[in-house]
Amino acid sequence: MSPSTIDKITVPHLIKMVQGGEKITMLTAYDATMARLVDEAGMDIILVGDSLGMVIQGHSNTLPVSIEELIYHTRCVAAGIKKSHLMADMPFMSYQASYEEAVKNAGLLLKAGAESVKLEGGEEMTDLVWYLTKIGIPVMGHIGLKPQSVHVMGGYKVQGKTKKEAQAVIEDAKMLEEAGVFSLLLEGIPIEVAEEITRSVHVPTIGIGSGPYCSGQVLVVYDLLGANSQFKPRFVKNYADFHSFAQNAIGNYIQEVKKGIFPAEEHGVHQSLVMVRGEKKG
Ligand code: KIV
Repeated sequence: MSPSTIDKITVPHLIKMVQGGEKITMLTAYDATMARLVDEAGMDIILVGDSLGMVIQGHSNTLPVSIEELIYHTRCVAAGIKKSHLMADMPFMSYQASYEEAVKNAGLLLKAGAESVKLEGGEEMTDLVWYLTKIGIPVMGHIGLKPQSVHVMGGYKVQGKTKKEAQAVIEDAKMLEEAGVFSLLLEGIPIEVAEEITRSVHVPTIGIGSGPYCSGQVLVVYDLLGANSQFKPRFVKNYADFHSFAQNAIGNYIQEVKKGIFPAEEHGVHQSLVMVRGEKKG
């Protein structure tokens, strides 16, 4: 299968990619313009992550994000996508309180344009994963460092460092696979543990802060672009210096407006060229 001949990347395509030895690429987006850029660059999966609580809304964690906000951003992103697979995160408390609410909220994300959902949790989520999958909603499981459990972890800490912890994460992966997830997101897991999970499950593993041996990789788009010069954790690689690029462009705009350089005559129209409704030109 050659991805260039595909009109739309589906769950079966993603699975075939990995079976054929091809890595899966995944990146977040939260609006139509960025989604269009990411889609046109050839991304396999675009994730409307609940990281929007931090990078869009400016909170210190993802917990305040509501299902309504996730639905809104999923609609925005869906409007900018042609080919990439569109996945939406299930935000905190949109799936933990009751089974019924979880199923309804996952359905609302699909109605907004998502083609799969991602939720955090291991063994405790297997019944929900099984049911969502049965009713036609593909699920990616998110294990290891689960940002929605920041208060239990006491911060954003690598999970699975001890033998016992590593065994628990590996068990979570196996149980989620058995429950029916089509893929697993491994966040903040030691390299060897992520490698072992990738070897022992049959579904693709997408890593972030989990080393090079997963079936694919995900990043937050602003981290990839280097938009925040203050944020440079070990797991991030900046592929651009968008912070400097944007500061420079915005600074130039300020200067030109202050000096009366922009707008120039070429950016406006003269009265003689304006066709006003009901009036003759010239
Ligand atoms: O919300 C998010 O952006 C995520 C990351 C792992 C990319 O889940």
